[in-house]
Amino acid sequence: MRIVVLGATGRTGRPLVEELLRRGHTVVALVRDPVRLGDVAQRVDVVRGDSRSAADLDRLVTGADAVVSALGPTVKEASLHTDTATALVGAMQRAGVRRFVGVSGAGIDVPGDQKSLSARMISKAIQTFAGDVIKDKPAEYEVYAASNLDWTLVRTPRLVDGAATGRLEHFAHRSTRSTQVVRADLAAFVADVIDQGSYVRQAPFFATAK
Ligand SMILES: NC(=O)c1ccc[n+]([C@@H]2O[C@H](COP(=O)([O-])OP(=O)(O)OC[C@H]3O[C@@H](n4cnc5c(N)ncnc54)[C@H](OP(=O)(O)O)[C@@H]3O)[C@@H](O)[C@H]2O)c1
Repeated sequence: MRIVVLGATGRTGRPLVEELLRRGHTVVALVRDPVRLGDVAQRVDVVRGDSRSAADLDRLVTGADAVVSALGPTVKEASLHTDTATALVGAMQRAGVRRFVGVSGAGIDVPGDQKSLSARMISKAIQTFAGDVIKDKPAEYEVYAASNLDWTLVRTPRLVDGAATGRLEHFAHRSTRSTQVVRADLAAFVADVIDQGSYVRQAPFFATAK
């Protein structure tokens, strides 16, 4: 598949690009600064631009089979995810691309959830006291949920670096027992979701199992 990656230079985006290439996909990376891709730039198609720009996204998604996002705000871009989602849904609709998989947070709630009492309390605390960057996640969810795309938003707890473990724990509506995710495992799960066409129009919880 020809897969667009947003956030390809990030800590999750890098292992995600490697995983997609390892599986034989063609990767198109949106980057603000191609230098930050390093040697990977020679193995992917590079498009320079900003994820909030409709014009950049139109160039990016034309001819793609799917879009995946490991975007994260690197400065105080409190509405990065919502602004990107709004621009991306429009660009994907114009280009006729339907499949989107992105990374969200375990603190957001969606209809049908069966979170434990402790997970519900943590979510409530996050939504009440967190800053604008965290509040961007439920707003992003609403944009994809209202679209006609085949979207998946992967809800993760704390991300950590390290080698892939292969211990992938995921549920549609129930919180994971583990409270952390190795970014390389998240990359493998996002690639699985793309390859298997799973969790369409759902927001599964995902973690690295203990
Ligand atoms: N940290 C946690 O514990 C945690 C928990 C749950 C969920 N998450 C979510 O996981 C996701 C990935 O996190 P991460 O730590 O892997 O991210 P990260 O290392 O901070 O990488 C962020 C990526 O987004 C890119 N980016 C930011 N603004 C952009 C823009 N306007 N246009 C194009 N690219 C842009 C950055 O590009 P540049 O190289 O140009 O800066 C970089 O590639 C985020 O959505 C985060 O909220 C994190």
